Amino acid sequence: MRQLLVFIHLAGVIVWVGGMVFAHFFLRPVATDLLPPLQRLPLMAGVLGRFFAAVALAIAAIIASGLMLMLDNGFAGAPWHWHFMLSNGLLMTVIFMIIYGIRYPRLKQAVAAADWPAGGAAMSGIRQLVVINLLLGTLTIAVALLGPLTS
Ligand code: HEM
Repeated sequence: MRQLLVFIHLAGVIVWVGGMVFAHFFLRPVATDLLPPLQRLPLMAGVLGRFFAAVALAIAAIIASGLMLMLDNGFAGAPWHWHFMLSNGLLMTVIFMIIYGIRYPRLKQAVAAADWPAGGAAMSGIRQLVVINLLLGTLTIAVALLGPLTS
């Protein structure tokens, strides 16, 4: 059972953090180089809409499996790096909610209205928060894997 929970947990982490790496370092720069806003912003809105829906599911899986793993061991006796993972994971979730609930709808509205300056601004707001979550996610993975070395 524990192995299955770790599998679900890591599958969610891979979709979320791996997806951010792909969107930020590979998709966005090439789309910016090759496409004018008229084509780039609808493409990004479409891709991100599908990605964010998958991330919402991944987050549910990460939190549910993470809490089950943690409670299984007793919350109070959990090592520091598990508590760190929980608080960082919740912070990343709040940031994701701002991206998906506030900034992404702005991008969609701008695309629907063909308002490319507003779309560019919305896209840049999404990018900034994605970079923060990418850094927090990388830190969380590092702490999850290296934390046991300290105990
Ligand atoms: C949000 C609440 C979260 C909770 C409660 C939680 C809790 C846990 C627990 C209890 C384990 C099992 C550790 C073990 O058996 O040694 C685990 C594993 C792991 N978690 Fe989380 N986690 C959360 C979020 C995250 C996030 C956001 C990430 C990365 C972005 C992450 C990355 C990992 C990794 C890489 C492992 C594997 C560690 C190993 O096998 O040694 N977790 N998590």
